Amino acid sequence: MQSLVRKLALAASALLALTLVFYLAVGPTGEGTGHHLPEWRWSGNFWKGGKMPYDFPSDVGYPGPTQKGPPSQLAQEDTVSQSGAVKKPWNPLPLEIALPDAQSQYGNFEPFLHMGPLTPYAASSGFGIDDGKYGRMPDGCIIEQVHYLSRHGSRYPTSGSPANLIRDLLGQSPRPVFSGPLSFLNAYRYRLGKELLVPVGRQQLYDEGVSAIISYGNLIYEDIATFGTLFARAGSQHRIVESARNWLAGALGVGGTWENSSTLEIQIEADGFNTTLAPNFACPNAGKAGWEVGNAWKEEWINDYAKAAVERLQPYVKGVTLTPKLINALQQVCSYDTVAGFDSTALCSLFTKEEWLGYEYAWDLEFYGGYGSGSSVGPAQGVGWLNEMLARLEGQAWDPRLQTSENSTFDAHPRTFPVDRRFYVDFTHDSVIANVLAALDLPAFARELPVHRPDPQRMYRTSQLVPFGARLIVEKLQCQASSRFPAVTSNNVTEGRFIRMKLNDALLPLDSLSACASEKRKDGVCSMDAFLKSYEGRMERVKWERCFEK
Ligand SMILES: *[C@@H]1O[C@H](CO)[C@@H](O)[C@H](O)[C@H]1NC(C)=O
Ligand SMILES: *[C@@H]1O[C@H](CO)[C@@H](O)[C@H](O)[C@H]1NC(C)=O
Ligand SMILES: *[C@@H]1O[C@H](CO)[C@@H](O)[C@H](O)[C@H]1NC(C)=O
Ligand SMILES: *[C@@H]1O[C@H](CO)[C@@H](O)[C@H](O)[C@H]1NC(C)=O
Repeated sequence: MQSLVRKLALAASALLALTLVFYLAVGPTGEGTGHHLPEWRWSGNFWKGGKMPYDFPSDVGYPGPTQKGPPSQLAQEDTVSQSGAVKKPWNPLPLEIALPDAQSQYGNFEPFLHMGPLTPYAASSGFGIDDGKYGRMPDGCIIEQVHYLSRHGSRYPTSGSPANLIRDLLGQSPRPVFSGPLSFLNAYRYRLGKELLVPVGRQQLYDEGVSAIISYGNLIYEDIATFGTLFARAGSQHRIVESARNWLAGALGVGGTWENSSTLEIQIEADGFNTTLAPNFACPNAGKAGWEVGNAWKEEWINDYAKAAVERLQPYVKGVTLTPKLINALQQVCSYDTVAGFDSTALCSLFTKEEWLGYEYAWDLEFYGGYGSGSSVGPAQGVGWLNEMLARLEGQAWDPRLQTSENSTFDAHPRTFPVDRRFYVDFTHDSVIANVLAALDLPAFARELPVHRPDPQRMYRTSQLVPFGARLIVEKLQCQASSRFPAVTSNNVTEGRFIRMKLNDALLPLDSLSACASEKRKDGVCSMDAFLKSYEGRMERVKWERCFEK
């Protein structure tokens, strides 16, 4: 009997070991990458959500295409920080963002702060308001309500990224031969997955949640006390949901706490579905040449700025003709390798300060002309979120006559589109924040970008607008009458209410809105009445119908 038990136990553990070996060899789902970390948690194609006491299931699916990459081991790979280079204080990320000869090569210039939407989160240096003077809460005001729109954290390249050009180039047979400053490419391995949040992206969103609960904890806990949960929304793509979960964990705590104290409403991002968190899916002309000009402008500019690098580096490559496009793609791989936790110093050091500024401007042109005011369908895609924000700001049900990219199934229902909260948080993409900024119609971000002549004073700098972990925050203030906040004599609901907005920790110049200008404020604040008045004509201005024109 005893020996039978022992035999069974032996057989069982052998089976277990076999299963484990098999599991490690084959791994969980993943596009044949052969890597084995079950770090991305979803059940089949369906999300397992938190508490969702709603008519809609939390298992909505539609995570988008994704592909895992191998884990990084920077402690082993990185030789730079061990040689004494100091990690930069501006961004305490555990990444290799110190280049070996940075001082002699770049002086005080920081390439990693100029990587457009691939810039790891860093506070903006400002949008024309004196943040040092006006950043703190004005005397006599309290924050009554907050609308918080966050981008996801650092991720792998998207499916159609130019980074694929480098993967394909290095996969060519025979492999191109590199020499001189490019010699490192002979042994270089392309290791990037696709679309997924990378570990540092989790950190960015967790930290962001921590900073949100420190900044706005009273409002958030008041919602939890009154309604049972904090109300949050996210697009269904994998990295967006992961970002939301990490933000909520940072804000509310792990171990079941955030799941129990928040409601995460996941909205489907896929063709034919409406959601203001990915309005392109409801706008058929989004991304089409002829309706947006960002891609064409970007390509023209890449031909300008990357020409010198082609000439400089071509002598060190046999088997490939370098092009400006490939130079830009190499710069993108530098950005992506860095946030994935690979040692990218050899690749990143290849480029000059002017080339990093050129790279940044290529992103600016792509975003301004593709999603911003330079696109004929850019503002139209941002107005859905703006409509929702204004409804929540006024505490009024969403108006179905304004229908653009909103999903009316959610928005017509107070349980799935509540308008009585203190704090709202939504998770989305860089392109959507660019859309919303275009719909907000701030002149500083509407000014045209000349394709061949970057203006170093421009406000439209994607590194400052939509870095990984970007956040747009609308604060509704209630202020006692004072010389800075003159009393409103009428008895209407917005009396004593003011609006203040921040993008990446810097105040936005609301005084530049049409109806706010007469208040002549230098602190970026605008009375709620004038703020609302500035947007009365928004539907005529943004022209949603252009999404459907032939
Ligand atoms: C979360 O809610 C469940 C169900 O009510 C409960 O069993 C669990 O203890 C809660 N967890 C925390 C951390 O509050
Ligand atoms: C709106 O959202 C609901 C819930 O996810 C979904 O069932 C419905 O198909 C969506 N409708 C549109 C037009 O996107
Ligand atoms: C989705 O958006 C389209 C275009 O604005 C609109 O015609 C349709 O009614 C919307 N459907 C839902 C369910 O929101
Ligand atoms: C509220 O009062 C302000 C100041 O008198 C006025 O300008 C505004 O038009 C009023 N708004 C409404 C909706 O009555």
